[in-house]
Amino acid sequence: MDDRLCRLEELPDPGSKAFAIEGLAGPEEIFLVRQGDEVFAYRNQCPHTGGPLDWMPDQFLDLDKRHIQCATHDARFRIEDGFCVAGPCAGQALQAVAVRQESGWIRLVPATGK
Ligand code: FES
Repeated sequence: MDDRLCRLEELPDPGSKAFAIEGLAGPEEIFLVRQGDEVFAYRNQCPHTGGPLDWMPDQFLDLDKRHIQCATHDARFRIEDGFCVAGPCAGQALQAVAVRQESGWIRLVPATGK
């Protein structure tokens, strides 16, 4: 499987973008958030209901782009670790997805299932 998601410069800074990937249990959607040279990745699944977070395609950040925001009930999550700081799932967290940067590419780190 090609583990390349996109190049760093294809992501707005700060900004976000969704990707469909083949997970261990089948297709799933993840998203990347870029902050400068750092990139964070999470499953597109709110811990409150399990539904998607984005209010428009590729839009996962709040208006001031300081938090990830769930469009359904407005929960806010820290970009750097996905921890929910406000909203109905406060204290819970998004599920992180392992990615790495290599030669300008953002690559998925394959899950091992262990
Ligand atoms: S579904 Fe995300 S806050 Fe309710």
